[in-house]
Amino acid sequence: MSQLNQVLLHEQSRVGADLDAWLATIGGQGLTRALAEPAALIPLIEEAGLRGLGGSGYPTFKKWQFVATQPNAQDKYLICNGNEDEPGTFKDRLLLQEAPHQVIEGACITALACNINRIIFYINPDQKSSLAVMEQAVQQWRESQWFVAIEKALGKELELTVRPSSGHYIGGEETAAIESVEGKFPFPRGKPPFPAEFGVFGKPTLINNMETLSNVSHIVRHGAQWYRDLGLGSSHGTKIYCLSGDVLYPGAYELPMGTPLSTLIYEYGGGMLLEKQLKAVFTGGPSNTILTPKDLDVPLDYDSVRERDSSLGTGAMIVISEGTGIVKRVAEYVNFFAHSSCGQCPSCKNGTFYAAQLLTRIDTGRGSRADLYALMNLCQMLPGSGRCHMLDGALKVLQSSLHHFMDEYEEAVNR
Ligand SMILES: Cc1cc2nc3c(=O)[nH]c(=O)nc-3n(C[C@H](O)[C@H](O)[C@H](O)COP(=O)(O)O)c2cc1C
Ligand code: SF4
Repeated sequence: MSQLNQVLLHEQSRVGADLDAWLATIGGQGLTRALAEPAALIPLIEEAGLRGLGGSGYPTFKKWQFVATQPNAQDKYLICNGNEDEPGTFKDRLLLQEAPHQVIEGACITALACNINRIIFYINPDQKSSLAVMEQAVQQWRESQWFVAIEKALGKELELTVRPSSGHYIGGEETAAIESVEGKFPFPRGKPPFPAEFGVFGKPTLINNMETLSNVSHIVRHGAQWYRDLGLGSSHGTKIYCLSGDVLYPGAYELPMGTPLSTLIYEYGGGMLLEKQLKAVFTGGPSNTILTPKDLDVPLDYDSVRERDSSLGTGAMIVISEGTGIVKRVAEYVNFFAHSSCGQCPSCKNGTFYAAQLLTRIDTGRGSRADLYALMNLCQMLPGSGRCHMLDGALKVLQSSLHHFMDEYEEAVNR
């Protein structure tokens, strides 16, 4: 495979943040169809097989259906999630900066499908240029003919808002994002009730990732079969893989969903730096089970990666070469999670800090066998004890490093 299959990153990024240039090319065609037949949108997204590209892989049409069928709500919210704070993930900022109208069109079509009138673009405050580009692009939409047409179709006033997200990693979790939009610290909420029933200020709320929304206008424009045909094997559409670490050409590659890991690393990434051997790949951000060289053939789609007991997550692939200490790397990631913990669940706050402490001790040659057993114990005791998935993500990377690289832990405690 040598042909890049870029739809989201190339097709519209040529026109940047200029609404007129965008409309003069391909923009608006999805929205025109959506305005003509809003009731056809959810079945179309179901047929296309679009899944959440923010990490969960949850079928998009199901979330849309939950919100669309909520009764008696004048106001409904859409949070377009661009918090993007996990190490190794850098795709949403590209979509925002290079193709803002693609995101906005996708969000407006989503609003028509679910009868949503309040759209919030929730963007990481450290990504100042993403915020500035979106402010400008959203203002262009507010002044455009589309705005009036959407309001007419919805039968209620439309509100488009650009809002800095909380700036914390945890602020990207969907219920934490709702708290943040309400002006509070992003503490994840317990579920149920789910956001579709009780979200922003108690109103039905849909949360979708920027990449998910970017796909929507293309699916409406080209049809479900076109989208299905973009993937490889039984996978649908494209995925923006964020490749980083010890490869020759790190970057964001939009490729067919299901592209094998080896193709991403050796064809698009140019292979390993200094022709070193591959040792490990931290996936999905580093909050999943680590992949190893025996997984090089894995097609990078949700189901295939799950079959290897890992998860595609955000599509981030952090590549590690032989010679890199796994314990040190895992200590850095677990430390990141410890500092990201919101502190609501003692098992998460204490557990991640304790794990980070043990890892640092072991990595620096001050650890004992008891420390290693304590780490193993944490992996047994803590999963499932947090309110949100952050704790389980931190434990997955720890547990899989113990599983695959116990020799390095052993060596460190025997030093
Ligand atoms: C700790 C944590 C952080 C998250 N951060 C993000 C984020 O920055 N962006 C995002 O889209 N989803 C993030 N998610 C996933 C969201 O909770 C949610 O599943 C997603 O926004 C839904 O969009 P999708 O269905 O389009 O993927 C995070 C989840 C967790 C547990
Ligand atoms: S698991 Fe951690 S991050 Fe999630 S709610 Fe509990 S303390 Fe907060």
